[in-house]
Order: sequence, then structure tokens, then C-alpha cells
Amino acid sequence: MRMYDIIANKKNGKELTKEEIEFFIKGYVAGEIPDYQVSALMMAICFQKMSYEETLNLTLAMAHSGDILDLSSIHGIKVDKHSTGGVGDKTSLVLGPLVAAAGVKMAKMSGRGLGHTGGTIDKLESFTGFSTNLTEQQFLENINRIGFALTGQTANLAPADKKLYALRDVTATVDNLSLIASSIMSKKLAAGADVIVLDVKTGSGAFMKKEEDAFQLAKEMAAIGNGAGRKVVAIVSDMDQPLGYAVGNAIEVKEAIATLNGNGPKDLTELCLTLGAHILHLSGIAENENEARLRLLELIENRKALDKLAEFVEAQGGDANQVYHPELLPTASITMEVPATMTGYIFHIQSDEIGISATILGGGREQKEDILDLSVGIYLRKKVGDAVSQGDAIATIYANDLKKANEAMKRIQNAYTYSTEEVACQKFIKGIVS
Ligand code: URA
Repeated sequence: MRMYDIIANKKNGKELTKEEIEFFIKGYVAGEIPDYQVSALMMAICFQKMSYEETLNLTLAMAHSGDILDLSSIHGIKVDKHSTGGVGDKTSLVLGPLVAAAGVKMAKMSGRGLGHTGGTIDKLESFTGFSTNLTEQQFLENINRIGFALTGQTANLAPADKKLYALRDVTATVDNLSLIASSIMSKKLAAGADVIVLDVKTGSGAFMKKEEDAFQLAKEMAAIGNGAGRKVVAIVSDMDQPLGYAVGNAIEVKEAIATLNGNGPKDLTELCLTLGAHILHLSGIAENENEARLRLLELIENRKALDKLAEFVEAQGGDANQVYHPELLPTASITMEVPATMTGYIFHIQSDEIGISATILGGGREQKEDILDLSVGIYLRKKVGDAVSQGDAIATIYANDLKKANEAMKRIQNAYTYSTEEVACQKFIKGIVS
């Protein structure tokens, strides 16, 4: 078999065989096929697209290119959740403890933030001493004992995707639905869970700006998961404005704690209940989603989900006292209100600009090695549809550097657009694909 022929076949619109796909993935990971040939193939895929069979075969080849996590020592059904990423997305911090309190076993692999979106690991490091440096054995033990554990991505999980993604990133070949779906699902399959719940974001702050593309991606990922023998549900949710009100690290942890206390923002609470209800149902813990939802609400009301968060934080070396006293989490020294530039209704909030503003304050990374200031962030006082008068605070900035705070202030102001007419709120959960 020759890589040249594989490229030519795809360029001419032919469907690649399983053998051809496995050949190029194995050869690429082994360093036998050079970047320039794989780049040409990626570009041919972007123009000629891939069938479902090709996408499934690519996903499986990438998933098996490195370690497959063995979760067999965890009792019962294992669940994983993935979000395609967005601004203010602290869902895992709420959802993990919430479903664990209901008896679910959630094995979560998370990343750090880069660019305008935050990372769950960074947020959790707001708890003094918290660490995701668990051995595989500790990770599995914690899931068995607590129901929820979180670790960083292991180096050898789907290495083909790591290499391919870096290549796609610099060759303008990221935005192909089949390539995105296979990239995400290869990591999920290698992570070993039986049930995979996907939160596919759509809107200005998301990877998929258009709703129809988000649905297409959700369908493709669900089909791949099913094809690989996993139960999958994908929820398409709005990211046309940040999720909740808090954007940063410690500030998002505080909002997650408030949500587990029953005082969370409506959108975040709704998302966690919807994802959680599907998880309970697919895990066989609840008969249907309605019953599951009631159970989750009860776990919030009786504070068992909050206690679960404390248990999880402590098991990973963190100070559980901060769960019950969030005022002890990192706090910035400067507070600055952002005034509305006109009177009217909030029409739109450009989410990525809010994420970039948090990065400017020091809460996000421009480069992989940047050290974060976990105490800084932004609290949105007004969201889409809210009425405002000129000069009202639309957001509060928490900073440790006045110059950065002023820069963030301008950006946040520019991220907001107004309407003189009332603005109807958009549907937050756009749909569910299973
Ligand atoms: N996230 C991934 O993991 N892969 C993609 O291709 C795009 C987003």
C-alpha cells in the first residue's frame, strides 16, 4: 500500500477502505508517513468529505493508536461527558458531583484552558491543594469510592489525534465535520466509558457557529459512538452568550457551588439537569428522564450533591472547607463596574470577546506555559434580553492590575450590543440527539 495512492483516491472522490485508513494512521504515528502527505490527505478529505463508514474507521484507528483506559475495575456503568467548549462553561463542576450523588460512576478526563475558553482543571485548582496528578489506580479507586474523579489527559491516549489535530490546526483543515467528530470521539472511546454524554455548543462563542452544523456534528458523533458499541446522547446548547454569569476560574467555581446550593443561574442549572437526567436514565439508575430530574433536584435540595463536591475535592488533595465557605477561594483586589453605553435591551454578547477579556486579566492562557491568576474574572450583570439604562453596570471586573482591568473594560463594552426594542430570549437547549 502506498500513501500516494491513498491521497489520490481521496482526491478523486473514492471512499477509503478500513485498511487504507489504518495504514495511514499507523504510519503517521510511527513517523513513517511525513506531515506533507498527511496534510494533502486532510485537504482532500475537506473537499471530498468522508462517509459514515470512513469516519467510524478513522475514529477507531485513532482510538486504538495508543492506550485504551481499562475501567473494568469500576463497578457498574461508567459515564463520561464531553463539551465542545465555550465561555463560562463550568458544567462538569456541577454535573460530576450531582450525578455521583445519585450513584453514577463518572470517569472524567479534562484539559486546561487555551485561548478564549477555560479549562476544568484550572478552575478546580482554585481549591487550595487540589491536584489532578492521580495515578491510574487512585483515579479508579476514587471513582469506585466517591463516584467521580477527574484527571488530566494521559500522554498516550489517542496519540494519532494529538498529531493530526496539531497538523490540521496549521493547515486550515480543522473545520470538517467528520474530522472534528472523529477527533473528539477517538479520545472518548479511548477513555473507556460505556455511556458518553456530549454537550455540543452552538453560537458566537462556540466552535460550531451555526445551529445546523452543531446538529450535524452531534448526529455524527452519536452515530460513531453507537457504531463503537457505546450509548451516546448529544445535547445541542446555546453558546451565543456565556453560560451563567461568571467567567474566570475561582469565580466559576463559586458559581458552580451556588448551583449545587440551588442558587445557580437558570441556563447552567437547566443544562446540568438535562445532561444529568440523561446520564441517570442511560446508566439505568432512573426509569425515565422525568424521574431522574426529580431525583437530581432532591440531591440539590438536601445538599447531598454539594457534600459530594466536598468529598471529591478532598480526595484530590483540595481544601473541602472552601466548598462550604467559597469566600475562602482566591479573590482579586480590584473591583470595577462596566457601564452600559446606551439605554435599551441587551441584544447580543459576543462570548469569545468576554473569554478574551478574562484572558487579558490573567485568567486564561495565551500560551501553554502561562501561569494563571485564578482570582480574576468577570461577572456578567446583564444578559441577552435584559433592560438597561445608560451607565448601569452590565458586568463587574475582578482584577489585580488596573491597566489590564481598563483594557478588559473596553473589550467587554464592545462585546455587548443593544436594541431599542425588546429582545426575545433564545431557546437555550436547542435539541437532543440520541
Ligand atoms: N476538539 C477536538 O478535540 N478536535 C477537533 O477536531 C475539534 C475540537
